[in-house]
Amino acid sequence: MNYMKNGKQELRDMIQNMDFDGVGSGKGDIYHEIPFDINYQGDIKRQDNFERFDIILNNGVFQNKNILDIGCNIGFFSFKFARQSGCHVVGVDSDFDAIVTAEYIKKCFHVENIDLIHGFFNRKIVNNLIKKYDFDIIILNSVIHWLMDYYHDLDKIVNLVRCLNNTVQVLFYEPSSSHSGFYPELLSHKNIKNFLHSCGFSKVELLGKLDREIWKAQVDYNKIKHSDNVFWIKKIKLSDARLFLYMNECYFSQLLRDKNITSFFYRYINRDGFRWFFYERLNGFKSLNQLHNLNIDQIQILERNLFDILKEFKKLGLVHRDIIPRNIMVNPETMEVRIIDLEFMVYISEEIPTGSNQEKEYLNSCLKTLGGRYCKPDRDIFDFDYDKYMVTKIIRNLRINSWYYRVRYWYVEFVDRFKKLVN
Ligand SMILES: C[S@@+](CC[C@H](N)C(=O)[O-])C[C@H]1O[C@@H](n2cnc3c(N)ncnc32)[C@H](O)[C@@H]1O
Repeated sequence: MNYMKNGKQELRDMIQNMDFDGVGSGKGDIYHEIPFDINYQGDIKRQDNFERFDIILNNGVFQNKNILDIGCNIGFFSFKFARQSGCHVVGVDSDFDAIVTAEYIKKCFHVENIDLIHGFFNRKIVNNLIKKYDFDIIILNSVIHWLMDYYHDLDKIVNLVRCLNNTVQVLFYEPSSSHSGFYPELLSHKNIKNFLHSCGFSKVELLGKLDREIWKAQVDYNKIKHSDNVFWIKKIKLSDARLFLYMNECYFSQLLRDKNITSFFYRYINRDGFRWFFYERLNGFKSLNQLHNLNIDQIQILERNLFDILKEFKKLGLVHRDIIPRNIMVNPETMEVRIIDLEFMVYISEEIPTGSNQEKEYLNSCLKTLGGRYCKPDRDIFDFDYDKYMVTKIIRNLRINSWYYRVRYWYVEFVDRFKKLVN
């Protein structure tokens, strides 16, 4: 009890001396009220926090849920939801002082069911989060303009949310723009709906407006159920050390989902200790190493289609790194192509995010043999020529084989006719 008393005073002093870089301009400016009574007299940036919380609370079911609060600041929402029965909340914020304050509040008021993470909402954090938690609800309030400042690309944010939304049923969203991150286009209803739909939520509704609007977005399970028959499933144990590679694939499959160059990725779910990844079944397609008798014209179309895909990769700054015949799916009727197995795909400037040393070692050992005999000799240098080299080699082999078979065919024909003549 004594600790609480001193703790409150310490907390007040601490806040007065903090420089929250994510919100205010002066020391001690906080975005939220402290969600417990500590009699704080300082300046609070946002005056409608309790009303915002009520709107969300009245429009969702918050019992026994796992909640992710992105850009949680000192955790007003996180703590409020942690107080709902059976909920567990994870709050992520890039502002160190905000997280330190939240940690202190957690300790001071003995809130067990909340984890606080300091960091930018990026791939590494998302990968670690999905390893540990299955979230039911995401809260994305007044942080989108900050994320845009970080990424300058809404698609990257969409993709991160999609990586999370495989277990998430509901997302609460407060669009935002401020003098520090001014993105007025994020505020139009049309764009808000587009953003939420692209994140994988088909039901979208405006709940109300205070200082800013609050939206609710939900997954429509009926839609997913109806496409059951087109699934192709990859299944991996949750404890498997290679899970990070599958998550890497999941990230890029989401990114490329509308491009028609890989097999369409629906979602993953965790069940019975496994993570099940649902992809489009490529009906009518065969892997290139099963297609033995392609003629010269077909090879030419295939080459063109493959290079078109590489152009698309280049536009997005991506390298596949494992383009081997087994990963090239071809429709022999139309010569349409899809590239699969994106486990080792990277942005040219990044490496696959790994957590443990075990993952790092595993990745390094894979990279040594990746691509097999099609791989560029200097396999450590990843550039756009890397994939190009592999595709060129594959096509060359196909051409050689095709000529070889053609000449052999002529030869057999010739010998046959000659024998007939002699006889
Ligand atoms: C305007 S406040 C909103 C706080 C809270 N979500 C709310 O609505 O009351 C934005 C918060 O997002 C955090 N933030 C900014 N960029 C971030 C990023 N890239 N990743 C995680 N948090 C970020 C800031 O530090 C700040 O605490």
